[in-house]
Amino acid sequence: MTQETLILSYHDLEDLIEISMVIEAVERAFRAYEDKTAKMPPKVYLDLPEFSGDFRAMPAQIGEHATIKWVNSHPKNLNLPTVMAVVIYSDCRTGFPLAIMDGTLLTMYRTGAASAVASKYMARKDSKTLGLAGCGAQARTQLLAISHVFDLDAVNVFDLSEDEVRKIMEAHPEVNVIPAPLEKVSACDIIATTTPVRSPIIKREWIREGTHINAVGADAPGKEELDPAIIQDARVVVDEIEQASNGGEINVPLKKGFITRDHIWATLGEVVAGKKSGRENEREITVFDSTGLAIQDAATAELIYNLATKEGRGTWMELVHPAAVA
Ligand SMILES: NC(=O)c1ccc[n+]([C@@H]2O[C@H](COP(=O)([O-])OP(=O)(O)OC[C@H]3O[C@@H](n4cnc5c(N)ncnc54)[C@H](O)[C@@H]3O)[C@@H](O)[C@H]2O)c1
Repeated sequence: MTQETLILSYHDLEDLIEISMVIEAVERAFRAYEDKTAKMPPKVYLDLPEFSGDFRAMPAQIGEHATIKWVNSHPKNLNLPTVMAVVIYSDCRTGFPLAIMDGTLLTMYRTGAASAVASKYMARKDSKTLGLAGCGAQARTQLLAISHVFDLDAVNVFDLSEDEVRKIMEAHPEVNVIPAPLEKVSACDIIATTTPVRSPIIKREWIREGTHINAVGADAPGKEELDPAIIQDARVVVDEIEQASNGGEINVPLKKGFITRDHIWATLGEVVAGKKSGRENEREITVFDSTGLAIQDAATAELIYNLATKEGRGTWMELVHPAAVA
């Protein structure tokens, strides 16, 4: 008997994926990880300093399915996205690869969704303005996901590239997107930073009381976007303690001794599960240190696979032949 694998392209995902469903799936994944019903070995980095980039391998299991994402990060890539990925979605009972799908759009959506979940629990309920530092691929889904949870009056955006600013404005005519200097971006109720920088661009004095920051860009050792004084003054929630300490926004402040691990208030899983609060009062600054977890990929891949099989999308292929072992 033959069994086929479903191949799903970027365009298949584009037609199937909806941010509301991804936000729900990602929130469930954080809860499952906290409940220990999801498994996630550490992310493996393959550094490529000679090519100004890196690869990461990210495995996870939720219930009867497991995924691995093979993803790169190449800032200043030549006519290609900074981040591209492929996800293999497998059946845990047999090991069979049920699907191979584009992980590029999946990454954008699950990363936006994690910030939406964090903002839901950590930002002030009356938040009306969003600031985007960096307007590239991840920023688009930060805007999509956070504006799904909050009714925003204005989105202040800054990027070194005017072209990226223009593109994000064109992509979201339904939202009041305003080009602004970084200082004004930082003065918003909720901020998402999605640049690949390796030294801080957001200054402490720009951040107002009560602000929530989703720090997304720092996802490998040596990267940081925020003035360490912001981290020192904030309630800090991380997606995963080891991964964030190694490569998240807190990695440099930890290594330089600005903070110790005791400064980490909680994981997002603990907050979602109600074990710790996301915010204690209206005045404090909160930071979600997002490094991107394999459980977010696993939950989103399952969602996509179920939608694709229901709606008849993608191309089935006899990729693995049972006779190969005969
Ligand atoms: N935390 C996560 O889960 C996660 C997931 C995916 C990507 N990332 C990281 O997020 C970052 C952005 O990824 P992307 O796919 O959006 O890349 P991208 O290249 O599409 O966008 C990055 C943008 O930042 C801008 N930029 C660079 N330096 C800047 C500066 N000093 N000030 C303002 N803007 C600046 C660039 O012009 C570009 O438009 C990368 O570091 C990537 O590794 C994190």
